[in-house]
Amino acid sequence: MILEASDQNIAQAAELIRSGDVVGFPTETVYGLGASAFDPLGVEKIFALKGRVRSNPLIVHVKDLGDLLRLSARLSKTQQALVDKLSSFWPGPLTVVLRCRENSGITPAVTAGGDTIALRIPSHPVAQKLLSLTEIPLAAPSANRSLYVSPTCAEHVASCFGDSLSIVLDGGSCEVGIESTVVSLVESPIRLLRPGSVTLEQLRSAVGEVEYRLPPLQEHQKQTLLSPGMLSRHYSPQTPLLWYSEEVLQSLAGKRVGIIRFSDHGVYPASAVVIETLSSTGKPQEIAHRLYAALRKLDSLDLDVILIPEIGRDGLGLALYDRTRRAVS
Ligand code: TXA
Ligand code: MG
Repeated sequence: MILEASDQNIAQAAELIRSGDVVGFPTETVYGLGASAFDPLGVEKIFALKGRVRSNPLIVHVKDLGDLLRLSARLSKTQQALVDKLSSFWPGPLTVVLRCRENSGITPAVTAGGDTIALRIPSHPVAQKLLSLTEIPLAAPSANRSLYVSPTCAEHVASCFGDSLSIVLDGGSCEVGIESTVVSLVESPIRLLRPGSVTLEQLRSAVGEVEYRLPPLQEHQKQTLLSPGMLSRHYSPQTPLLWYSEEVLQSLAGKRVGIIRFSDHGVYPASAVVIETLSSTGKPQEIAHRLYAALRKLDSLDLDVILIPEIGRDGLGLALYDRTRRAVS
């Protein structure tokens, strides 16, 4: 059930989490499906609801840097310096991977049995309030079925989980619109694992060297072949999504085509059933903010195919490229 994020309803959600249940809640990136990171049953419910493979660890949300450091193993001098430099991004859409503290109390399933933990300090006031009231770190993946497009409003979450989720706190549409940047601080140099709205350029200017390698597409295809039906696709609508080009468009004559445009200046072929324009001026922040809602909308229109332009990989473009690249067929 979608509930207004009033103090009273946030308190009710906190109580549910404390009693081992799962709630949907807003963050500045996307909506999360949250449970106590200390509670094996709550965490198990997350994996079951999402249909998520147990080998894929969850991000743990904490309210501040003190709580973050309480869950990580003692930092090396180098890591301490890195955390100091990155702290200007917190609270906000930056997740760091560190060694997990022994006896932290974190349920092993959260870290998929590994010795590292992904930690994030969300800035959304509702997420902050929920964390303060529960006084428990929250394991929270994006509130979508595994591999589907992440949710950026409460309705997306409710439409996915229906009655199996007793509360979705409504915090409006997520400002950022794509998942947090994930950086591993246990490697040297540190490594960007998932691009997001804290950009590679910003990270490098804060800390110096940051490694990033675009996952090779061959691996993608290999995995697909190895486990047919279990596509390695992520962030994907059910409707096939393809990069936009004139040739592709021409090959789709007679099909029901939906097009996502990044600005007013892009293509406007008369043959499209529907065209979604994400930003009149092509502003990356606006594109990110609207991308997932547009994918979900077009996915509900019974189209044969959705076309989306390839985007430049600088700044926030890298994260948008990463998400659309994983989603295209
Ligand atoms: O913006 C976000 O991060 C959202 C909101 C709800 O906070 N959460 C989110 O969680 O996107 P999820 O579970 O959908 O994505 C978590 C990502 C996955 O790619 C996972 O593999 C990675 O973080 N991850 C989690 N723990 C890790 C670890 N110990 N080492 C490396 N990667 C990790
Ligand atoms: Mg996710």
